[in-house]
Amino acid sequence: MEAQVQNELETRLTEAVIARLSDDADPRFRRIMQSLVRHVHGFVRDVELTEEEWFEAIKFLTATGQKCDDKRQEFILLSDVLGVSMLVDAVNHRGSGATTETTVLGPFFVHGAKEIENGDDMSAGWEGEPTYVSGRVLSTEGKPLSGALLDLWQSNSEGSYDVQLADTGGKQLRAKLRTDAEGRFRFRTILPTSYPVPTDGPVGLVLNRMGRHPMRPAHLHFMVSAPGYDTVVTHLFVKGDPYLDSDVVFGVKDSLIVDFKRNDSQAEAQKLGLKAPFYSASYDFVLRRADKARQAHAASDVL
Ligand SMILES: [Fe+2]
Repeated sequence: MEAQVQNELETRLTEAVIARLSDDADPRFRRIMQSLVRHVHGFVRDVELTEEEWFEAIKFLTATGQKCDDKRQEFILLSDVLGVSMLVDAVNHRGSGATTETTVLGPFFVHGAKEIENGDDMSAGWEGEPTYVSGRVLSTEGKPLSGALLDLWQSNSEGSYDVQLADTGGKQLRAKLRTDAEGRFRFRTILPTSYPVPTDGPVGLVLNRMGRHPMRPAHLHFMVSAPGYDTVVTHLFVKGDPYLDSDVVFGVKDSLIVDFKRNDSQAEAQKLGLKAPFYSASYDFVLRRADKARQAHAASDVL
């Protein structure tokens, strides 16, 4: 009986918080806050959170915020390792069908990379295995998209991004590249390697307590955009990487695993401005029309 009274009190508290939400609040905001309150309260009841655990959680979130600055985003990392980023990605790209699959943005994207020309080297003298990446950007109807913009970023051969290193002299291993008249792109770089997400902050401590490794399989980051089309944020993963099945951020999708083929031919390497042995990979990105453009296109099909 006593437990039942207690249960009612707890439930009433949840309803009381929700009842304080103003009817004038933005409808979407109301829906989000109602659900958030129900789930957070439900979570507290479910695990019967102790006061010490609640305070630990406050300290953890505080430390997560304090670890963030203009180069470090510990909250994105937290979202990534808990699978929340991939869940947001999944609910926002349901039924994308023929388009290139998406994956996490990750914490290392930086605006304002320099634009390079097709065939240029984005690794700018960094040590590593020479690599050539090429492909096309297409619409879902198979039309090549010329002038599509690829924003590229990757770690160095030791698994670090420029923003994690001191004194890199600005943006490194990042570039913007536009497709040519036939929708083609090509660039030189170094082979990416698997790497650990930063473990020197609160997220690293949590991973450790969960008994999880911090590794991401080797990948190149791409953000591919074209006017009138939905932007695709994705990676290309290196086939054969030992962490493909246990990516710490749950970002791997089969369609994004690509064969980076080793080639020992000095003649072929020279043609591409590389030294043998080198690795080459090819991938076509497929974008779909943005909502408005898609609707207009569908309407014009009917007419
Ligand atoms: Fe990455």
